Amino acid sequence: MYKRQHLHCPPLAVAVAAELAGAALNPSMDSWDQAPAAGVIEELTTAALARLVHPQAPAPDALITSGGTESNLVALLLARERAAGGPLRVVTGTNAHHSVHRAAWMLGLPAPTVVACHEGRIDPAALDRALTGLAGSPLLVVATAGTTDEGRIDPLPEIARIAERHTAQLHVDAAYGGPLLFSERLAPQLAGLEHAATVTFDLHKLGWQPVAAGVLAVADAAMLAPLSLRADYLNADDDTEAGLPDLLGRSIRTTRRPDALKMAVTFRALGRRGLGKLVEHCVRTAEEFGRAVEAHPRLRLRPGGIGISTVLFRPAVADALPDEAGDAVVAAVRRILLAEAVSYTHL
Ligand SMILES: Cc1ncc(COP(=O)(O)O)c(C=O)c1O
Repeated sequence: MYKRQHLHCPPLAVAVAAELAGAALNPSMDSWDQAPAAGVIEELTTAALARLVHPQAPAPDALITSGGTESNLVALLLARERAAGGPLRVVTGTNAHHSVHRAAWMLGLPAPTVVACHEGRIDPAALDRALTGLAGSPLLVVATAGTTDEGRIDPLPEIARIAERHTAQLHVDAAYGGPLLFSERLAPQLAGLEHAATVTFDLHKLGWQPVAAGVLAVADAAMLAPLSLRADYLNADDDTEAGLPDLLGRSIRTTRRPDALKMAVTFRALGRRGLGKLVEHCVRTAEEFGRAVEAHPRLRLRPGGIGISTVLFRPAVADALPDEAGDAVVAAVRRILLAEAVSYTHL
């Protein structure tokens, strides 16, 4: 058992202020007539995020979601709709977030095939074997950039190559690690992300936004066609013919909060560079904290225990005890730390 901090962040004051303004104005993002200004803000914000994730794609797009769970669900839904010739088979690592499994279950897909990880990252050889075993089915590989427990980043360039060789679609759950893209220094850690058809990217984790602030980036706006829907009271034909944007098809939800507003205000206030600096500060602090743990005679850093902003450690005394007694020491320490808002994971 090791210690880790929950992924939710203290929100920035500007984002909280924007949240308050959004609550007071209360636009709902399911139709243009209810949210003309918020609609434009969302359009500009998602366009910027889409270009950040897929800089080379000719027509990238991004949706605002309630978080990583919804983004993963919509990613699997879109992959299922693109699949032809049998039920979509999802292949992911033991390190994947539980929402990937839940999404497959909710969408009526076969349970994902789970491949082994090495040091918390998908083992490419195991992935290759799994895809070979499923040859003939439409395939979706789900990799993770910033795993929930360890902050590890799957080997994305290699995974993208393997997926392409097996004509598998690729989704990357970068709910946690995605904001590394804001930093020019750290963005190379996400090399390969641009090959993913869909990318989950949360700003209520490493983006200092109040919950909820989820994003699903897609490489090609045309992929969103299955979400389009007509409801006369929200997007009447004559409105569409008059050129009003159709917001209903940009979510699986109907009534929807203007979550892009706080993101837009944050981007205007800090810019990409400002957010990148915050991310760099967080990563540097985790490294420093990890080194302090390593140097401490009574603490033990888990081998490779620093990932993005996650530091995994335990009291050294627990190692000297039988497993159960060691875990009891960790549990006691955890209860003390809980009072100081530090959370845990069981690894
Ligand atoms: C990698 C990863 N994906 C998805 C999620 C789910 O995100 P949310 O809680 O915003 O739905 C989490 C949550 O911690 C996560 O760590």
